[in-house]
Amino acid sequence: MLGPPGSAAVFLVVTVDPGGEAAARGTLAELAGWQRAFAFPHPDAGLTCVAGVGAEVWDRLYGTPRPAALHPFRELAGPRHHAVSTPGDLLFHIRAARPDVCFALTAEIMKGLRGAATVQDEVHAFAYYDARNLLGFIDGTENPVGPDAAETALVGDEDPEFRGGSYAVVQKYLHDVAAWEDLTTEEQERVVGRAKSTGLELDAPGSHKEVNTVLGPDGGEQRILRAAMPFGRPGRGEFGTYFIAYARDPQITETMLRRMFLGTPAGGPDPLLDFSRAVTGTLFFVPSADLLQDLSAHGKPR
Ligand code: HEM
Repeated sequence: MLGPPGSAAVFLVVTVDPGGEAAARGTLAELAGWQRAFAFPHPDAGLTCVAGVGAEVWDRLYGTPRPAALHPFRELAGPRHHAVSTPGDLLFHIRAARPDVCFALTAEIMKGLRGAATVQDEVHAFAYYDARNLLGFIDGTENPVGPDAAETALVGDEDPEFRGGSYAVVQKYLHDVAAWEDLTTEEQERVVGRAKSTGLELDAPGSHKEVNTVLGPDGGEQRILRAAMPFGRPGRGEFGTYFIAYARDPQITETMLRRMFLGTPAGGPDPLLDFSRAVTGTLFFVPSADLLQDLSAHGKPR
């Protein structure tokens, strides 16, 4: 998950059907091998795949113990905005520089899950002009990189059995592009908190940037690792952002979401939500590659 965003991505969310547990475990066990096989002929494509496991299916697949902070995504119903919680047992976040390579791995995963899982959501996303989202703004500027990305995203000694894993929150957003385009560039910049042309920070109280600047008890900024990607079908009026954030503690992402959707604690609600509606919301734990192997071999962490 720490790698480059890629220029193509597939976000696949499925629920495991009753009786489908063995096939799901088998698919997760094979994943690393499939990733290597599909990556090999196209080394420049940088194919990666992250797999996440939801709270409700964890016990069915592996028994206890569960990662300490794994729970179903908590719906947030505010007076104006609603963060829905939607079903999802497994997440596959597949990234590469080529959509065909992403497609091939997705097809293989679906073959592994045939008759064992129900697809809840499948989004084929793409990098868009200069890393912009479909609202026209550069997305990802403030993401941590290098050792900071690992420190932000990976569970450490606080949960030793799950060290090196991560918590992924996904939300599919649909944008009201017509209403957004009715704003002037300056108005849009006040919503986002960044300059549209350069992505540079602006002094914009109440903006998306400010709502998501969350300080921890030590006064330091609490960070998440985002890998959101645009998707859409212009012919159907669909313009979206598939949001995904990795964090060592899901509470950090959840605090941002409460500020965005409910306006509490102080800050928000987020003006970006006047133009963006969340239509899915799910939380997953992403085991490290080693733990995924271990779980597959032993059924539960040793
Ligand atoms: C409609 C969906 C969203 C869109 C289009 C969007 C777009 C953006 C853009 C354009 C930026 C400024 C550039 C950057 O640093 O990336 C940004 C920053 C940020 N966003 Fe979002 N975002 C969305 C949802 C979310 C959600 C759901 C969260 C948190 C749960 C979030 C957290 C952040 C954070 C932490 C920053 C960095 C703030 C800073 O320090 O400057 N975003 N987003």
